[in-house]
Amino acid sequence: MSRLSGTELTLAYERRVVAEGLDVSIPDGSFTVIVGPNACGKSTLLRALAGLLSPARGAVQLDGAAISSYRTKEVARRLGLLPQTATAPDGITVADLVSRGRYPHQTLLRQWSAEDERQVNAAMAATHVDGFADRAVDELSGGQRQRVWIAMALAQQTDLLLLDEPTTYLDIQHQIEVLDLCTDLNVNRGRTLVAVLHDLNQACRYATHLIAMKAGAIVAEGRPADIITAELVRDVFGVPCQIIADPQTGTPLVVPETPRLHRR
Ligand SMILES: Nc1ncnc2c1ncn2[C@@H]1O[C@H](COP(=O)(O)OP(=O)(O)OP(=O)(O)O)[C@@H](O)[C@H]1O
Ligand SMILES: [Mg+2]
Repeated sequence: MSRLSGTELTLAYERRVVAEGLDVSIPDGSFTVIVGPNACGKSTLLRALAGLLSPARGAVQLDGAAISSYRTKEVARRLGLLPQTATAPDGITVADLVSRGRYPHQTLLRQWSAEDERQVNAAMAATHVDGFADRAVDELSGGQRQRVWIAMALAQQTDLLLLDEPTTYLDIQHQIEVLDLCTDLNVNRGRTLVAVLHDLNQACRYATHLIAMKAGAIVAEGRPADIITAELVRDVFGVPCQIIADPQTGTPLVVPETPRLHRR
């Protein structure tokens, strides 16, 4: 079962074709992680799955209908996207930006409510940005800013949440907090998550479903323990490595070989 899938997708920017004939299906209730080298098409795929990029061929299906058949606001009530790079309006405060996550839930008749306030506060607390709620977003550090965007996506309260590199810019403590939070949303709130991550070991720890991409194609997918091998990592990333069991979780731990490193 899949509320979100794409069939026969050709994804392109004008004449640059990024992917052709791509089939993808996000398992309901999964924490799906997408890995792959720079420029292989991860963000492009995520933007297509969110309905922000129209495929040149093929279609994305959301809840049984073409995503293009929904109004923007209706998509935003079902699915949230944290883009890889986002720019905040000049001078906007943290609380105001996070509040924008509630916009899809408002109508002419139902304006700002106590529930909106509660969701915004909960999202800011979960991402530890409540301590600087009144500061301007453009005056924050890169990691603080990243957490504000995550808070905005959380405040949207969608069943499907797509996160493009949510841990980039974050220190190790905040990386773990964000990924633990994703797992909590997945396990305890029944949300389906899709995240792009570059850290293969974190991907193996947190993903219930892992998708490995290379040059616009899915080359392997499944449970991390079932698909991550030294051959796959060498094929996808061009890096020879050893795979051992993660001492904390037992999931695959990728240990790259660095033969040219000068030992000191
Ligand atoms: N707006 C755009 N216009 C034209 N080409 C683009 C655009 N955005 C991305 N591309 C190209 O499409 C290809 C895939 O880019 P994409 O951003 O999907 O890669 P990615 O896998 O997310 O990489 P990264 O790990 O660096 O974020 C790249 O060759 C990139 O240069
Ligand atoms: Mg990207």
